[in-house]
Amino acid sequence: MSEIIFKNILKEFETFLQSQKPSSTQAMKKACELIDQNLDYYNWTGFYMVSQTEERMLELGPYVGSKTEHTKIPFGKGICGQTAESQDTFIIDDVNQEDNYIACNIDVKSEIVVPMFLEEDMIGQIDIDSNKPAAFGKTDEIFLSQICLLISQVIKNEKNV
Ligand code: SME
Repeated sequence: MSEIIFKNILKEFETFLQSQKPSSTQAMKKACELIDQNLDYYNWTGFYMVSQTEERMLELGPYVGSKTEHTKIPFGKGICGQTAESQDTFIIDDVNQEDNYIACNIDVKSEIVVPMFLEEDMIGQIDIDSNKPAAFGKTDEIFLSQICLLISQVIKNEKNV
């Protein structure tokens, strides 16, 4: 039952945020680690953040999983770029059926990308690959939105310092 695992990860993550007061980079790294350690169908977990220097560009943030050469993704390109453009979650059951998809690893079968907001602004996204087909659904989306919300609160506090 993933729901129980999601709940436990969120609890552990919130405790980490409250006790360690991490930077946003440390918080994103920790979220990737907790997800990677606890959810076996999440095979690559990482963040792409909206570039502060380049227009309509995503930059790779913390991640856990195999190394990727896609450290920058323009808005509109691949699943991540389409998520940035539409500001909506993308759930892809079979990445091989997608024309606008950037492959990182031939083992990947399905993907979910959930946008991260700071108030109304889209500031980044969490991207998960699975080696299992159609691995993701609504409960994953809700869980990942909660992770993004917690991280955006860390980013908000950082900006106010
Ligand atoms: N598959 C993504 C690219 C990022 S990798 O999965 C790490 C996409 O199509 O945008």
